[in-house]
Amino acid sequence: MRIAVLGSGGREHAIAWKLQQNADKVFCLPGNGGTTNNVDIDPNDFKAVKEFCCKEEIEIIFVGPEAPLAKGIVDYFAEYDIMVLGPDKEAAKLESSKIFAKKFMQKYNVATANFQTAGCRQEAIKIIENMNGNCVLKYDGLAGGKGVYVCSNMEEATQAVAELYEKYGADANLLIEEKLEGKELSLLAFTDGRSYQLLLPSQDHKQLLEGDKGPNTGGMGAFCPVPFYNEELKKQIEQTIIEPTMQGIQQENFNYHGVLYFGLMITADGPKVLEYNVRLGDPETEVVLPALKSDLKELALACFDGSLADFEMEFSDRYYVDVVLVSGGYPQAYQKGKRISGLTGEEDLVFHAGTKFVDNGWVTSGGRVLNVVDSGETLAQAIQNTYKKLQKYSFENMYYRKDIGSRTEK
Ligand code: AMP
Ligand code: GLY
Repeated sequence: MRIAVLGSGGREHAIAWKLQQNADKVFCLPGNGGTTNNVDIDPNDFKAVKEFCCKEEIEIIFVGPEAPLAKGIVDYFAEYDIMVLGPDKEAAKLESSKIFAKKFMQKYNVATANFQTAGCRQEAIKIIENMNGNCVLKYDGLAGGKGVYVCSNMEEATQAVAELYEKYGADANLLIEEKLEGKELSLLAFTDGRSYQLLLPSQDHKQLLEGDKGPNTGGMGAFCPVPFYNEELKKQIEQTIIEPTMQGIQQENFNYHGVLYFGLMITADGPKVLEYNVRLGDPETEVVLPALKSDLKELALACFDGSLADFEMEFSDRYYVDVVLVSGGYPQAYQKGKRISGLTGEEDLVFHAGTKFVDNGWVTSGGRVLNVVDSGETLAQAIQNTYKKLQKYSFENMYYRKDIGSRTEK
């Protein structure tokens, strides 16, 4: 089986690493300094992807990031005999339009925060006034995690409205949500549009600073499984969220063979959806795939051949932790081209994100540089092992959070 992985981050390195265990050949388009069989093709250039995949007799395209899915890569390949893992363009709106997703949740009775929508600044101001500024404001479209503002008072909410309209234009659509309190959980499922199989529950750490403070980033670390997750919570999530979502996917006739990611808040009033993503999460993938014992290629195939409901999911019984090493300054401006010391190319569970191989060594080429992953019999042991492991790697102005995984131990 020959597979192409689209994307260039830590998530894609982890996907390619896992697939390589069982596939004949795995190409990365375009990949990064840690991946092999890289091909310099932009995943959003569908024609170039198609030409490459036909020439190389690729059977499965594993799409890492959301952009090609939102742009309709599944629809584009409908006339070719290649399985593209992901939803069609319409279903990809579950991620690419937050308002579309909320309306879908409302229609199919999926547990989520109450919401209103605003199409201009005046409308938004009226809504936030009625909520005393205690609300969450979100830009409707794809914003790479930067379009969400969680506010506690009128001052913060007014500022958020101003920034959102400045960033996205005077006619931007905003989603204004009730602010939920609770514990966050990422639950990732493979689906064939009818059945689903869940990966282990994980948590990511989006904020830059310890104690979940500072600006949001693409993700500073993750761990799995999550200690507070149990059978009872799983049942509740399935009944109030996953099953109604699957019913909606069928009733809307979405063409969906791929990953559905549930970003959840576990509130006193039960689990609620914060967001859907239509692909694997980053950095969650860097822990949930090492924890998956089943063959990922077979799991992907099962999303197409009707066998997913009977697919046997096998997991490791260890905990996994991922700490992301980032460039100083990230998520704002940062320098690139810094030499990374400690890497040999032989490491196990070190997933590259922003690296480049130059002159017999690696240099930084992005904000998030390396995902250092390790495991342990307990979460505490996994944390300790990961922090010990990352001591080997360094580059000028390197930064990482010291508290990945410790949030749920309280
Ligand atoms: P999203 O991209 O919609 O997942 O939002 C990004 C982050 O904002 C989430 O991971 C939460 O930490 C926070 N957030 C989003 N929606 C809400 C909400 N309704 N209540 C509280 N926090 C939220
Ligand atoms: N970790 C959140 C995301 O991938 O969007």
